[in-house]
Amino acid sequence: MTTIPRLGALALACACLSARAGDVEVLHWWTSGGEAKAAAELKATMQKKGHVWKDFAVAGGGGDSAMTVLKSRVVSGNAPAAAQIKGPSIQEWAREGVLANMDTLAKAEKWDELLPKAIADGLKYKGSYVAAPVNVHRVNWIWANPEALKKAGAKLPTTWDEFFVAAEALKKAGIIPVAHGGQNWQDFTTFESVALGVGGADFYKKALVQLDAATLQGPTMLKVLETFKKVKGYTDKNAPGRDWNLATAMVIKGEAGMQLMGDWAKGEFVAAGKVPGKDFVCAAAPGTAKSFTYNVDSFALFQLKNTANQKAQQDLASAILSPEFQESFNLNKGSIPVRLGLKLDKFDDCAKLSAADFVATAKTGALVPSIAHGMAVPSATEGAIKDVVSQFWNDDKMSPAQAQGRLVTAARTK
Ligand code: BGC
Repeated sequence: MTTIPRLGALALACACLSARAGDVEVLHWWTSGGEAKAAAELKATMQKKGHVWKDFAVAGGGGDSAMTVLKSRVVSGNAPAAAQIKGPSIQEWAREGVLANMDTLAKAEKWDELLPKAIADGLKYKGSYVAAPVNVHRVNWIWANPEALKKAGAKLPTTWDEFFVAAEALKKAGIIPVAHGGQNWQDFTTFESVALGVGGADFYKKALVQLDAATLQGPTMLKVLETFKKVKGYTDKNAPGRDWNLATAMVIKGEAGMQLMGDWAKGEFVAAGKVPGKDFVCAAAPGTAKSFTYNVDSFALFQLKNTANQKAQQDLASAILSPEFQESFNLNKGSIPVRLGLKLDKFDDCAKLSAADFVATAKTGALVPSIAHGMAVPSATEGAIKDVVSQFWNDDKMSPAQAQGRLVTAARTK
């Protein structure tokens, strides 16, 4: 009979452990208060499974800086296990041949049954899963400080006309009407909500998803641009360059009355200990109550060589879709679970409204992808349109008609 010497046994045990535990490096841009709490849920989940979490956070709302860093890492052959990649960019990365096929896990865990089909389709390349989703963010929201509204004698607006009435009242009361951060993705976020509210879901789809030239050139788009520029008049002079979470903080403190932002803003209110319905209020952005701009955060999974790291990556993808994680993560993130059929008992009324509208708008065709958050068009086209929208926002000499002409040209960018 062979006996294993003590030291040998120890070495064997260590070898087993390290075969199980892997490194999981995850690129994301969740660095604000609420976002960081949500990211910490992911880290804790992976650590509980015995893996080593390697945080690859690249600050910058909307993720433009994160995407630049990701490109240089992948080009140098040093991809992370997972990266926060969304919408058509998932297909762009898959075409490069660098993403891992997750079908074995997806089949075993029945992802096709757990996810809405439209979302599942976007996570697949040539029929195979290459990314795992964490949530559904709604972008077309308006957030407001009820005390500030009260002081101004204003009410939470449901139309763009009401919005400007409220903004005027807030201004008269000495409160900054609209908290805004002048960064191009924030300008674009406001723009898409104005487009949806002024033009409706069919217009939005034709103009900003199908990029139909006639619609982009038409009178509705002109009205969208005029309305969008009018919003700027109610922002403060320190807006340029401000981070979105600092804009949310202005609403939290009552320095500003309203913010047009996706529901990651709710994560900030909640992280600051604020209670929805009491300390802050939410509503669909003006004119958009019957539509829904969706933004699904998902992790694309890169091909890895090391088997322990591959196992950690599989565990990450599996954990992301578990009911426990879907709940704890989304409670912090401000979004709703992407997994179907979960109970929302612990979620607040904003999340419940979002979930109900998500289902309702999917039936009416008014569920539309967010162009400002990488869900609607290829990244090059998105970038070109985003630039025009920001140039128009910033340049008070550019007329809406001039901006419209540039928009039509930008939409042709491939
Ligand atoms: C992401 C959110 C993030 C927000 C601000 C969006 O594009 O989908 O997860 O919180 O940007 O950084």
